[in-house]
Amino acid sequence: MKILVINGVNLNLTGKREKGVYGSETLDELNAKIAAYCQKNGDEVAFYQSNIEGELVNQLHAAKEAGYDCVLLNAGAFTHYSYALRDAVAAISVPVAEVHMSNVHAREEFRKESVLSSVCKGTVFGFGVGSYLGAIEGLRVLLAK
Ligand code: DQA
Repeated sequence: MKILVINGVNLNLTGKREKGVYGSETLDELNAKIAAYCQKNGDEVAFYQSNIEGELVNQLHAAKEAGYDCVLLNAGAFTHYSYALRDAVAAISVPVAEVHMSNVHAREEFRKESVLSSVCKGTVFGFGVGSYLGAIEGLRVLLAK
């Protein structure tokens, strides 16, 4: 599979912010783990991070033409209110999995609401970097690859 991992707002600070929630590994270190996992399975993976909503929308729009089979999307706090990202996911034919490192249902009330879930193929949350790996396996079954 050719996989695009998109991380949204504040995820660039992973490993530096709220370590009790997100751990102390940086985004680059987490991405290296995902890349190693993908290499082992013969998958191709690329990573994109932005704090800017419109740039995330642009990446989603470009995913099909760039040849990706699927997208993992951790939109950060945009998850909870971005109708623009929601519409972008709904607009594209590439399947998208929603991912969160933390258990969003065991935190503040506002994190229980996701405007993305209904347009994503599925959601994996609460397993740290394992959420990304779990989402890859879910998409693999879905795409039978
Ligand atoms: C997050 C959960 C969101 O609620 C939060 O705003 C984030 C990270 C996660 O990976 O657990 O920035 O998406």
